[in-house]
Amino acid sequence: MMSTSRGGTAAIVPAAGRGERLGPGAPKALRSIGGIPILVHAVRSLVSSGRIGLVVVAAPPNGVDGVRELLREFGESVHVVPGGDTRQRSVALALDAIPETYEIILVHDAARALTPPSLVTAVIDAVAAGSDAVIPALLVADTIKAVDSSGTTVTATVDRSTLRAVQTPQGFRRSLLIKAHAAATAMDTTDDAGLVERLGLPVAVIPGHTEAFKVTTPFDLLLAEAVWSERDKAAERHA
Ligand code: CTP
Ligand code: MG
Repeated sequence: MMSTSRGGTAAIVPAAGRGERLGPGAPKALRSIGGIPILVHAVRSLVSSGRIGLVVVAAPPNGVDGVRELLREFGESVHVVPGGDTRQRSVALALDAIPETYEIILVHDAARALTPPSLVTAVIDAVAAGSDAVIPALLVADTIKAVDSSGTTVTATVDRSTLRAVQTPQGFRRSLLIKAHAAATAMDTTDDAGLVERLGLPVAVIPGHTEAFKVTTPFDLLLAEAVWSERDKAAERHA
């Protein structure tokens, strides 16, 4: 599985967040869906694509050994480093641990546990075809309105047709991701493509997948349990 020739793909998995919006409990990446930790789900979906030579996980700084143990099933193809106090910092720390031989780098939220491997493949293919920064995104279903700073009065209805809800994995040519993170300021971005945009460089959009949703709230965890149990049933039907 480990690729050493130039041109391979590596993935960064930021998993060092506390998961405050999920409520009290273990760090989000260590919470379970169907009895399997969210982080294990996320790494499996990357590895199942068959296209990733190395995964570097940014773990909660006080939980690195536990995370290494959790990911032992993947052997040498998964490395674990301590994450930082923001998502951006966690990605930068993992990026430092990727050997130069990897030409394409994905960044994938641990919290998008049930991302289909087909989406991983589609992002890699789009970078390989010549787009140096690629994001998967979905149309926005709700009507979106802008509100005033108090959040109590509408100021405008935004044109939904030009908006997208953005997911991960996001894919980058290695040199561009390094440049984007080197130019990053302390002002945290919630995704890596945002850093490329700040350089004034283009970011390509491909179709996302509903099952690549991010587990953020307790409701998302319920949804993830439902999606996982449906997959289980489908797998049994095909067994
Ligand atoms: N993340 C990280 N390091 C941080 C903060 C976040 O690696 N210091 C990771 C999370 O583990 C998650 C991904 O970035 O996989 C997306 O972030 P988010 O969904 O916001 O997760 P949390 O920050 O853990 O959740 P919350 O904001 O509710 O605390
Ligand atoms: Mg967060």
